[in-house]
Amino acid sequence: MTTPMLKRDWIALEQKYYQATFKRQPVTFIRGQGIRVWDAEGREYLDFVAGIAVNVLGHCHPAVVQAVQEQAAQLIHVSNLYYNTRQIELAEQLALLSGGMRSFFSNSGAEANEGAIKLARKFGRLHRNGAYEIISMERSFHGRTLATTAATGQAHYQETWKPLPDGFKQVPFNDLDALKAATSEKTVGILLESVQGEGGIWPATREFLQGVRRWCDEQNLVMICDEVQAGMGRTGKFFGFEHYGVMPDIITLAKGLAGGVPIGAMLTGRRTDLFVPGDHGSTFGGNPLACAAALATLKTIQEERLVENAARMGEYWHEKLQALCQKYDFIANPRGIGLMRAVEVKYDLAPAIVDQALKHGLLLNNLGNATLRMVPPLILTRADIDEAAQRLDRALEDVSLQRGVAAQS
Ligand SMILES: Cc1ncc(COP(=O)(O)O)c(C=O)c1O
Repeated sequence: MTTPMLKRDWIALEQKYYQATFKRQPVTFIRGQGIRVWDAEGREYLDFVAGIAVNVLGHCHPAVVQAVQEQAAQLIHVSNLYYNTRQIELAEQLALLSGGMRSFFSNSGAEANEGAIKLARKFGRLHRNGAYEIISMERSFHGRTLATTAATGQAHYQETWKPLPDGFKQVPFNDLDALKAATSEKTVGILLESVQGEGGIWPATREFLQGVRRWCDEQNLVMICDEVQAGMGRTGKFFGFEHYGVMPDIITLAKGLAGGVPIGAMLTGRRTDLFVPGDHGSTFGGNPLACAAALATLKTIQEERLVENAARMGEYWHEKLQALCQKYDFIANPRGIGLMRAVEVKYDLAPAIVDQALKHGLLLNNLGNATLRMVPPLILTRADIDEAAQRLDRALEDVSLQRGVAAQS
């Protein structure tokens, strides 16, 4: 029997007790199942945000619940001073998926990228005359720590925190000439997302990603692919870079890896496998609980063929978005790959659409005022998509009426 929940004003309490770091939608969630979540009033929503590309198996997938429950009853945490079976098993699974790379586990995407940056700097110290600089991309996002903020190619994330750590610069995404021109004897690595997430869902071009690989080989640079958002099958391949026929030297993962339990991973191939004891570490990174959740997530992705499902459902969702773009003149150009999708919004209406969608029981997310992002769970079915499209249609109709923007039909 569950204890009835106290009626409390969660939003007022948050303002009193939590730092003002988040601009939140006015809703408090208490339960989730599959692609649905329920708020404190018992209202149900289709979740096309999925914890921002985290809940790849939806909410409370039985496999993850069982793995967490069993592991919690057996061993939650043990220091990295000792071996733990779940950590080693997870590294083994990731090696199978990455062509033999070895893992380091952290707790978040930013931390995974920190590890990658340190590893690249070690490569520079040992094999490139002390080179340390990382070139990343404009519009990229790599995290909120100081180094990953310095690597993030969006000025508004950086301004307040200057001076940022030295050794980072950005070039326009998909511009190989600019990347080559920016490379110097100080450069040690190139950091990029195969599909930019926070920047607006922008896939790399084939020429660019293949060109980066060639450039790294020619110049003895380290290619780091940040798969924190695009990884775990979201794009219709397990890693986003698989669409491009390239293999990076270092891969970072987080978000969906443990189906909602915090984890990050930094994987490296042989050439950059340079850490020795004492170089890097983490108290919680790779603890049995997180690794058990990740093992269950990976197994379920494989058993339920969710990578393939993401590709198929992505196409179907894209068709629905195209139809809605035909109907409403203030949305256009659906783009993306697999279940990593965005739509352009005119007249700065993206936040208004998110608000209306919430009222109609659909969670969406806006990137600025001109982009809607959808990164739903990979377990999505055609029926779920039909339902989401109907709810989005109603939300768009409301926005259209409210703003006096004429729908085309
Ligand atoms: C591509 C990418 N890298 C890194 C991060 C940072 O991950 P975390 O918030 O887990 O530190 C994000 C988060 O959105 C991301 O999208």
